[in-house]
Amino acid sequence: MLTVRQLLQYKPNGKQIVALTAWDFAIAQILDAAGVDLILVGDSLAMVALGYENTLPLTLDQIIHHAQAVKRGVKNALIVVDLPFLSYQTSIEDAIASAGRILKETGAQAVKLEGGYPAMVETVSRLVDIGIPVMGHIGLTPQSVHQLGYRQQGHSESDRERLISAATALERVGAFSLVLEHIPADLAQLISQKLSIPTIGIGAGTDCDGQVLVTADLLGLTQRQPPFAKAYVDLRAIITQAVQDYSTDVKSVES
Ligand code: KIV
Repeated sequence: MLTVRQLLQYKPNGKQIVALTAWDFAIAQILDAAGVDLILVGDSLAMVALGYENTLPLTLDQIIHHAQAVKRGVKNALIVVDLPFLSYQTSIEDAIASAGRILKETGAQAVKLEGGYPAMVETVSRLVDIGIPVMGHIGLTPQSVHQLGYRQQGHSESDRERLISAATALERVGAFSLVLEHIPADLAQLISQKLSIPTIGIGAGTDCDGQVLVTADLLGLTQRQPPFAKAYVDLRAIITQAVQDYSTDVKSVES
């Protein structure tokens, strides 16, 4: 199984990180066998697997349940699990308890949390101090949907400065990598050059140290795709056709 320390060798060796999300055993098994480096049990599963409007309703118990299934399907990839909304923002003690439960109960090697400087810096520092690897996530942070919407972040000069400060602060306190979501490509490139930890982009251009996508978007399973997500196959249409073919077969013996 790929370790956090091994993943950290990718950037100095000029190797891109291939990351995707998974929410159950079957998807995890397929991604792992296909050679994905990092599997994220993202809280996007609230929307793509559980049908919620956004990621906010997802509970810690729910993500642990899904991460356990993912873990059973993975032999090689590094597994990172999202801390759900309000499982870590309420206090550092809550963050430690939630991250600790994720590592103890799922077998994942790391957690991811959203937010930057100053909000999350002390939390990340404490988690890292007690040996919990943390991936940061800045830019479009879906847990702040009611404040930010799903718009691209990092347009104004002050917003760009805010994101650069957040990125450098998260690196300083020990985050092992950083998701950059839906920010201008030149800003993502600048941040990636400034940091020695790897950046993993989603809707942030090609000059990050790796890329992540929500697998349901890549497979064409979702009805509402973000503008930056490329569907590599239209599984919704393929499944619909298969179900209709099956239905035709079943009905063919009707009298
Ligand atoms: O929850 C998720 O799937 C994520 C990715 C969009 C990075 O956080």
